[in-house]
Amino acid sequence: MSAVMNTYARYPVTLIKGRGARVWDDAGQEYLDFISGIGVNSLGHAHPQLVQAICGQASEMLHCSNLFHIPQQVRLAERLAGLSGLDNAFFCNSGAEANEAAIKLTRKYWHDQESSRRTIISAYRSFHGRLLSTLTASGQDKVKVGFDPLPPGFVHVPLGDIEALRAAVNDETAGILLEPVQGEGGVHVAADSYLQAVRELCDETGILMMLDEVQTGIGRTGEMFGFEHTGIKPDILTLAKGLGGGVPIGAMLASTKVSQAFTPGSHGSTFGGNALSCSAALTVLDVIEKEGLLENVQTQSKRLLSGLNALKSNDADIKLVRGSGLLIGMEFDAEVAPLIAACRERGLLLLPAGPKVLRFMPPLNVSAAEIDEALAILSACLEETS
Ligand SMILES: Cc1ncc(COP(=O)(O)O)c(C=O)c1O
Repeated sequence: MSAVMNTYARYPVTLIKGRGARVWDDAGQEYLDFISGIGVNSLGHAHPQLVQAICGQASEMLHCSNLFHIPQQVRLAERLAGLSGLDNAFFCNSGAEANEAAIKLTRKYWHDQESSRRTIISAYRSFHGRLLSTLTASGQDKVKVGFDPLPPGFVHVPLGDIEALRAAVNDETAGILLEPVQGEGGVHVAADSYLQAVRELCDETGILMMLDEVQTGIGRTGEMFGFEHTGIKPDILTLAKGLGGGVPIGAMLASTKVSQAFTPGSHGSTFGGNALSCSAALTVLDVIEKEGLLENVQTQSKRLLSGLNALKSNDADIKLVRGSGLLIGMEFDAEVAPLIAACRERGLLLLPAGPKVLRFMPPLNVSAAEIDEALAILSACLEETS
């Protein structure tokens, strides 16, 4: 057994170098990377501007703790507030921590109003992280086994069923936590009309609408945030993955009405929002803007979807192609692990979203030629494995 704890079923590959959408293993084999570190490498690998920002910041200051003012953190908070229409940001280091902060803020908000509302409603099949709070919020039993007792105050409903949600709401409900697209749970897109109805329900009752955009945020769906497709705005928004382009950072944003429930001592993080991670995130946002990456996501999404739908029309094992932007799932009748292995052998890295869904998450700056190359490899592998 390795000295590393056995928590991952790893592919038999050691990646040591990357440039753009390509990576190389320790034997020199090249791959097209349509995993992007599970949605983290938003600018691909070794983007020159991100490398320069990280090196430049490292040579000035990596970390000084939140005992001091951190100008990069203030700039990033202002930038994310401007982009999202929310007011204030709290920074941490991962998606699970961002959701933990969202859950704590929601409970504290109601506590301060002397209300007993504490329960968080989330969706079956959802994934919100591996902390005790966030695995309890997740709507998948497999992440909970063996970790009881789980914290109380979490309830689940089917995604997309507004009547079931209305029926689950009561005087104890504090917030509704949803992913605009369930990534880990199989690439299931929440309908715009559903998210709009959730917003209405929250407006009627005062319950907080919490969106987990850890996977969908920062351009992944072709807008900076997934909720922008719907015309509504959440009360609380969580981000991580693509925000730092590979440098660990998470963020939780909220309107001032809600965020003022946090005061010095309510919450914190030693590493959260340090100068290095905030400089990286500011650069990711700059590059998305400067290189027109939201438009690129929209264009390449159409190309990938039409290529995948063409493959589907020729293959009875493919049930559905669905997704948003460059978060796309292809559902099969059979398990996808053998197909993923075949694609890897031919130089294309893909990941599953559950046992029967193949997930495509190339970097936001993927080119048309790279999409075509991936489709050609997938097509050859489908023929080979069918
Ligand atoms: C929607 C969503 N929320 C939260 C998480 C947890 O993020 P992390 O692994 O950074 O804690 C993930 C990770 O896949 C995710 O997809």
